[in-house]
Amino acid sequence: MFKPILTRSIAVLLVVLLSGSGQLFANTVTGENGAVASRSALASDVGVEILKQGGNAIDAAVAVGFALAVTYPSAGNIGGGGFMVVRLANGEVLAQDHREKAPLAASTDMFLDANGDVDRELSLFSLQASGVPGSVAGMLDALEKYGTMTRQEVMAPAIRLAEEGFALNADLAGDFNDTMPYFQRHEASQAIFSKNGSPYQAGDLFVQKDLAESLKRVSEQGRDGFYKGPTADMIVAEMQRNGGLISHEDLESYDVVWRTPMRGDYRGHEIWSMPPPSSGGVVLLQILNMLEPHDIGVLGWGSTRTVHLTVEALRRAYADRAEHLGDPDFYPVPVEKLISKDYARERFADMNPAAASDSEQIFAGNWNTESTETTHYSVVDADGNAVSVTTTLNGSYGNRIVVPGAGFLLNNEMDDFSAKPGAPNMYGLLGGEANKIEPGKRMLSSMTPTIVVKDGQTLLVTGSPGGSTIINTVLHVVMNVIDHGMGVEEAVAKPRFYHQWKPDVVRYETDSFSAETKAELEAMGHRGLTDSGYGYGDANSIVIRDGQIEATSDPRSVGGASAY
Ligand code: GLY
Repeated sequence: MFKPILTRSIAVLLVVLLSGSGQLFANTVTGENGAVASRSALASDVGVEILKQGGNAIDAAVAVGFALAVTYPSAGNIGGGGFMVVRLANGEVLAQDHREKAPLAASTDMFLDANGDVDRELSLFSLQASGVPGSVAGMLDALEKYGTMTRQEVMAPAIRLAEEGFALNADLAGDFNDTMPYFQRHEASQAIFSKNGSPYQAGDLFVQKDLAESLKRVSEQGRDGFYKGPTADMIVAEMQRNGGLISHEDLESYDVVWRTPMRGDYRGHEIWSMPPPSSGGVVLLQILNMLEPHDIGVLGWGSTRTVHLTVEALRRAYADRAEHLGDPDFYPVPVEKLISKDYARERFADMNPAAASDSEQIFAGNWNTESTETTHYSVVDADGNAVSVTTTLNGSYGNRIVVPGAGFLLNNEMDDFSAKPGAPNMYGLLGGEANKIEPGKRMLSSMTPTIVVKDGQTLLVTGSPGGSTIINTVLHVVMNVIDHGMGVEEAVAKPRFYHQWKPDVVRYETDSFSAETKAELEAMGHRGLTDSGYGYGDANSIVIRDGQIEATSDPRSVGGASAY
C-alpha cells in the first residue's frame, strides 16, 4: 500500500493528487546527523538548518515551534500551549509543561447557561475560551536551559517566514477558506486569512507582518516581549473590549513547570511520556501495562485477539482518565497507583478473552474532552538529544480570534476543562471533579509526546494531535514498533482503530482489520464498529536504528520530514 522512500516534493504531490483515491504516501527521509518530522515541511527544514548550523535538538525544536506558528497557524502557535519531553544525550529525561492556565477571573460554572447546560459557543468560540498562553514561555525556557544558540538565531527563520511570506500550498489555502465563516466574525482574523476578503489560492504568497512584529518583540526582549509590553497590552485590550478574562496579572505570572516525566517499561523498552496535567503518559502506560502479559507480536497485527485486547485496555484506561486525572497542582492524581503493573493486573482481571465488556459496567477504578487540531513534531540531533513536542490551540485555529495588531490566534483550551461534570467535551470525553475549572489551574490534556528507549539508546520519538484519540495513536505507533517490529514509515502509516470507553463504540480506519475479524469482534459483543475512513492522528515520528535516523511525516496529512 505504501511506496518506499520518496523524495518529499514527489511524496507531497502524490498525497495531494491521490488522497481522494484513498492512496496516501508518507514523506520519509533518512539521515545520520539529525532529523525533524512535523506537520509543515517548511518548519522541518528550519529545524534541520538549525542543526546544520551546529544547534542541538533543543535549539532546533524551539526554532521549529516558532516556525510552525507561522507556517501551520491552525495549531502551531504562540497563543496556545503544549508539552515537551526531552531526552538529553546523557540519558536524562525531562518533561516541560507549558500548558495554558485558566485566568484568575475564571470560575467553575463559567460556561453554564441559565439552565445549567454547557454553552459550547462560549467555551469554544469566545475570548473566555482562551487560557493564558504558555508556548512562548515554554520555548524560551527550554532554549535557555538546554539550548546552545541565541534567541535571535533560533527565531530568525520564523520571523523571516512571517515577514517575507511563503507560498501557500493547496492544503493550507483550502483550510483557511473552509474556516472563513468563523474568521469573518472577527475583522483581524479575516484580514489575515483572506486577501482583502477574497479567498487565498494555492501558490499565493502568505505574509504576516503583525505576527512578524510580535515575534521580533520576543526575539529582542525574551518573555517580556510577549507577557509584558505591546503584545500583552494588545491581548488585554482585546479581552476587555469583548468580554475575555485574561489580565496583565495572568500574563506576567504565567509559569512553566518542569515535571517528573512518566516512566514505564514495556517488553524491555523504557517508555517516557508526559505526566499530568496531561493524561497522555498515564493512560498510555496503563494500556501498555494491561497488554504486556499478552504476546501481541505473536497474536499479530490486526488480529481479532489483538484488537479485542487493545479495545478492552483502552476502555478501562479511558474510564480511569475521566475520574482521576486533572492538574496535579490542584487535585491529588493517583499517578503511581494508576501506572503500576499491579494495578494493571487488577484492572484487567475482569477482561473476558472471548467477549466484549459493556462500558456501562466499567467504572473508574475505585478509589473528561479535547479537539483534534493539535500538532506534534519530533527532533533528533547527531549527539543523541531527542525532543518530542506536542502543541495546540485546542480547536483548529483555536477560538478563531486573532489579537488585533498582534497577528496571532488565541487558543480555546478552556474547553478542555470539564465545564460540567458528566457532560462530554468537544471530543466526547467525560470529566469530573479532578478537571473542574478553577482560577490558575491547567486543563487536562491528552497530549502524549513520547520517547521510547531501548538498551540506553533512543529508539522512537513520537506523538500526535487528535484530542481524545491522541493517546490511542501513540499507542498504535509504539505497539507497531515494539510488538510488530515495523520501521517508522509503516508504523505510522498503518491504519488505527480506537475506543475511548464512552461512547461504547469501536471506530476504525479502513483496513485496520479484515472483514472476518470485524465479524468476529461483533460476535464477541463489540458495539458500533464504524469505518471512519483514514485520519486518526498525525504522528510525525522518528526511529533510530543502527545509526540511521529515519523520520516520517504522517501520510494522513501534508507534512514533511527533513534529515541530513
Ligand atoms: N486540546 C487537546 C489536548 O490538550 O489534548
